[in-house]
Parts: sequence; C-alpha cells; structure tokens
Amino acid sequence: MWSLYGIIVCGVVFVVGQSSLAPYDVRIEYYKAETTKDLVIGTDYPYFCWKLPLTNQRDVRQMGYQLQLRSENKLVWDSDRINSSQSIHVPYPFKQKLEELTHYQVRLRVWTSALETASSWTLWIPFRTSVYNFQQYLLDHNDEVSWIGSTQIYMNELRKEFNVSNTSPIQSATVFISGIGYYELYLNGDNVDPSRKLDPGWTTYQKRTLFASYDVTSKIKLGMNAVGVKLGNGWYSQEQYLLPSVPEPTYGPPRLMFILKIIFNNSDQMNVYSDQTWKGRQGSIIHDSVYNGEFVDGRYDRLNWTRVGFTDSLSLWITPEILPSPVDTTVNGQLTLQDMPPIRAGPDALHFEVEYDVDEDRSYLSKKDIGEILGASLKDKGILHPISVIIPTLNVHIFDMGQNMVGWCRFKFHGPRGVGIHIRHAEILSQAVVSTGKATGGIYTDNLRGATASDTYILRGDPNGEIYEPRFTVHGFRYVAVFGSPTPLLIDDVECPIVHSETTVKGHFSSSNSVINQIQHNIVWGQLGNLMSLPTDCPQRDERKGWMGDAALSVNEALYNFDLSKFYLNFLTLIKDVQLLGFVPDTVPLSFGFYPADPNWGTALPTITWQLYRHYNDIQIL
Ligand SMILES: *[C@@H]1O[C@H](CO)[C@@H](O)[C@H](O)[C@H]1NC(C)=O
Ligand SMILES: *[C@@H]1O[C@H](CO)[C@@H](O)[C@H](O)[C@H]1NC(C)=O
Ligand SMILES: *[C@@H]1O[C@H](CO)[C@@H](O)[C@H](O)[C@H]1NC(C)=O
Ligand SMILES: *[C@@H]1O[C@H](CO)[C@@H](O)[C@H](O)[C@H]1NC(C)=O
Repeated sequence: MWSLYGIIVCGVVFVVGQSSLAPYDVRIEYYKAETTKDLVIGTDYPYFCWKLPLTNQRDVRQMGYQLQLRSENKLVWDSDRINSSQSIHVPYPFKQKLEELTHYQVRLRVWTSALETASSWTLWIPFRTSVYNFQQYLLDHNDEVSWIGSTQIYMNELRKEFNVSNTSPIQSATVFISGIGYYELYLNGDNVDPSRKLDPGWTTYQKRTLFASYDVTSKIKLGMNAVGVKLGNGWYSQEQYLLPSVPEPTYGPPRLMFILKIIFNNSDQMNVYSDQTWKGRQGSIIHDSVYNGEFVDGRYDRLNWTRVGFTDSLSLWITPEILPSPVDTTVNGQLTLQDMPPIRAGPDALHFEVEYDVDEDRSYLSKKDIGEILGASLKDKGILHPISVIIPTLNVHIFDMGQNMVGWCRFKFHGPRGVGIHIRHAEILSQAVVSTGKATGGIYTDNLRGATASDTYILRGDPNGEIYEPRFTVHGFRYVAVFGSPTPLLIDDVECPIVHSETTVKGHFSSSNSVINQIQHNIVWGQLGNLMSLPTDCPQRDERKGWMGDAALSVNEALYNFDLSKFYLNFLTLIKDVQLLGFVPDTVPLSFGFYPADPNWGTALPTITWQLYRHYNDIQIL
C-alpha cells in the first residue's frame, strides 16, 4: 500500500466543497501569491497560473478566464472573458507592458463547465515591478551610486542618516541593495526582513551579481531616518577550498551598493545612495566564513547603531572607500534582480501544499503500520530544540538535535564580560556506547576535513544574559558542542533554526515499509539542507559546492518533493554564465574541477532543463 499526493504543479482540480468559490493558488511568474510577502518581478510581461475553484463534480474543465489589473486603485486593464482552458503559464494578456517600479494588483475569475456563471473573483493580489535594466540604471546614475567598503579595515557595518523633508505623503519607498558576499539591511532600528539570510545568492560575481528589492514604505518617516547595513564575506571574499589547479578568487573585501527611492504623493522623488556620505567600521563580527564559522566579540555590539541620533565614542567610524563594482562589464557582466525565493531561517523557510503528517483518523495507514520515523518532523516550524544534552567533561555541553540539520543555533548565554565561548558542530559523536546508546566521548569532526564549522562568541557581560546567533555562516550538524560557558546551559537555552532556500513541500510519500519511509525522510532533509541558493553537494565539510553531477542526479527527486522552479531556473542561468565555447565546468560557480566537465557532470545543463520542463510543463524553459 502506498500513496503519493499532489505532485503536479498548477492547474489540478481537487474534489470538495461548494459552488462559486474563487480560483486559488494563484502564481505570478511562478511566485505563489499566498506565500510571497512582497512579490517583486523583473519583467514587464509576466505569466500567471491558478487552480480552478474547488468543486465536488467530476470532469470539470475551465471554459474561460478574466484578469483585471489595477494600479493605485485605478483599473488599468480588464481582459474581459477570454475563452480558454489554459490555467498554467497564461501569458500576460494586456497590450500595454507593465511599467517598471510600479505597484500593481491583479485579480481573476474563471468560468468552468460546472457552472453557468462566473466564479467569484480572487482577492486583489498585490505585486510590484523592479527596475528592468538595472545595469543601465546604474550607468545613468554613475556619479551618485557607488560600491562602498574598505581595503583598510574589515568594514562590515555601514550606516547613514538622512532627512525626509518633503511633507507630501510617501507613496512608496523602495530599496535596491546588493551587499556581497552577504548583507543584512536595517532601517530605523529594525531588520527589514529578519528571516531572510545569507543574501544574495552565490553567483560568478563578475558575470552576475544579484540585488534584492524591499518595499520599505511603512518604515520611512518624515524627518530624520537611519539606514544600517551589515556585510559578510560569504562566497565573495575568501576560503573557497580550491584545488591547486584553480586559483582562489581574488575578489577583494565585501562591498555594498544601496539605493532607496522615495516617491511622494505629489510626484516628488528623493533618493538615498551608497556613497562617501556613509560611515563604516568593523562591528562585532571579527571574522566570518561559510566553512569556518564566525568569531564575534559581543563587546563591540552597539545597540541602536541603525537608529537616528546614534553616537559612538568608543569605535572608529570612518568614511568608506569607493570600490570597483563586482561586475565586469567587459565580459558582459550584469547586476540582476535575484529572481528566486531567498534563503530563509525558521518558520518562513518552508511552506506546505500537501498533507504531510500521517493522520491516524483519515489515512488508511496508521503510524503503527508505517513504523516510527527517526528524526525531527518538517512540521516542527523550522526550529529544532535539543532532545538531550550530555556533559562529558567540565564546561563542555554537547546538545543532540535528534536530526542532522542545516542552519545554526541561537544560544542564551550568561557570564562575565570578555569570557569566550566556543561552539563546534558535528554530524556524529566519536564514541557512542552501543549498549546504552549514550555517547561518552566528544564530537567527531574528521569528516569536516578543512572546515572548522565553529563559532566563537565573546560575552559582553549583560547581567540579563545575551543571545548569540550566527549571521554569515551555516553549519550542517546533528550535535553542537559548547565549550567554556561560565554557567551551566539547559536545553531551553538552545534552539536551532533550519536554513535553506524558501520552498514549498509539494509531494509526500509514505508506505507500509518503515525502511522506505525512513529513506524518504532522510531524502527530504538531505535535499532541504542542500538548497543554499543553488543545489550543493553537502552542507558541512570544506566543499558545499554546486557540483553539477549531484545537481543532475537529484533534480527529479527534488522537484517531486519541493516547489523549486525559480531555484533551478536561477541555477540554469548560473550555468550559462560560465559556459565557455559550449563547455560547462564540473562545479557552478566554477570552484573545483575542470572545463569541460566529466560527461555525467556536464549533462546537468540538459538534464535540469528537461526535468523542469517535465515537472512544470513550461515550454519557455526549453
Ligand atoms: C466565450 O464563450 C461564451 C459562452 O460560450 C460566449 O457567450 C462568448 O461569446 C465567447 N466569447 C468569445 C470572445 O468568443
Ligand atoms: C529636515 O529638513 C527640514 C526641511 O528642510 C528641516 O526643517 C529640518 O530641520 C530638518 N531636520 C533635521 C534634523 O535636520
Ligand atoms: C494623494 O493625493 C491624492 C490627491 O492628489 C489623494 O486623493 C490621495 O488620497 C493621496 N494619497 C495619500 C496616500 O495621501
Ligand atoms: C536604544 O534605543 C531605545 C529606543 O529608542 C532606547 O530606549 C534605549 O535607551 C537605547 N539604548 C541605548 C544603549 O542607546
């Protein structure tokens, strides 16, 4: 006995319910309207998908649809009824292209063979357009927008205050930002999107650097405002663990490109750009590396550094240098909108489209039939709590997450100012005692090879305790060993967000065979942990690269389990970025291996293309 639910993308009719419901699961350019908070598209000609309203009749077909588009509460287009059965990849039906930098709302209704009358309308679904040709936009503003950073210090905190003096109401405020390797954006004290992590995605930076856009209309106020950006090395600066045959990239220090565009109701505009009016310093992150973790000195944290009126007599804030753009226009390099869901942590990273847990009441398979699956559930809201802690020696705590996971942990520490705590991550323990199932030894890290996968945090000595959570690194682990906490740690002092490119569970498999069920469990966890803006081969050791062989072998599995259209479309673009005379390399971005790739590695380009087409039935992909 087995069951396999819901593996087809848009346009499936499920059987339940009432008449005159609205179409649902609307997608604009593949982005699910329901789960995308601020839907930004980089095209003037989007495609739409939807599912037909639920009905209890069989053999229901779509007879027609109608789309309406409005902007600033004015109807700008009405398609009227279009007699067509198409409900996936429906091309934008309006003659007039979408304008850039504009907020729109769309709604739709359908006619089906089940009903004489039209379905209800969907709600108005908001989305907005980006700047379409960003490269040109930057050229046009050449003297104003700069990439800023420092070759003198590790400048990883940059800030600026600005005065919004126009008293007309703010109609929109939009940020365009690229901070590489990684960035975090703060406005008036708040992280603008705290679940968004390790952004932007990894690319061959000289060919393509990604920027993101944020709608910050509600965060900007009349009078003084402050913006702050943290930067990290990510894949840009260092430590890529290459074969001697491939030179380490010499990109240079992290850098920031920032544009805030405010449009007022009276049509006035105001722009804030990254330039030498900003100030920068080295913040509390002394060092950060994807493989080797962070070294953070909490004593250098400055509360309120992204608020207006901040002063800091204790650290050196200096004028940033203007650094070259990461993009090399002589090789046709481009700065493009990151056109895929970002990496996120915790509950915002994973959505569900199928019933996931075996439900004792409704399923013919009970938990007893299928056997207990070892490990955590994907339904644990994206945050794991340790299932146990052992204290092998004084001042060492080893937490067991009960499940190999990818992300990091958030710790609550107490202790005197200046004391350092060291955190290591491992997949297994060195000496598990079989008879008790308990480990007596420490963690086993030989399989991490050159990656230290460790974080060090120096306490600032807050009497109420302090939270440490890494920002610019990611670990693959089941066990976390904490060395040197001055006070005993409890299980409640540790929680570990799961981190991966945002996606939706689309398929689920369970059978009466507990071994196969456990394999499926391991597959989905292994797959999620390797969705790091591109498909990686592993999340823990000194590798974690876009190995083409691994990507090609896993793509069919990945698309059955998860919605990853945009993720793989982005990867295809990255592959094309490094194609040379038709050849593709073994890893993308090229950081290991050769041109041309081994045959089964190079076939990733046609294989991923073909599997995407098979799963999404989108002829444009070919
Ligand atoms: C669409 O189909 C409806 C119902 O059959 C019909 O009344 C209408 O004229 C058709 N519209 C067009 C544009 O063909
Ligand atoms: C901001 O600009 C307005 C208008 O020019 C001015 O009245 C106000 O004093 C400025 N605020 C600050 C804090 O400089
Ligand atoms: C913008 O101005 C128009 C009149 O020009 C007014 O109708 C509208 O309510 C204003 N919008 C906001 C957000 O204040
Ligand atoms: C930070 O800002 C908050 C809110 O403005 C204020 O209450 C607090 O005193 C500030 N803390 C420091 C250390 O400046």
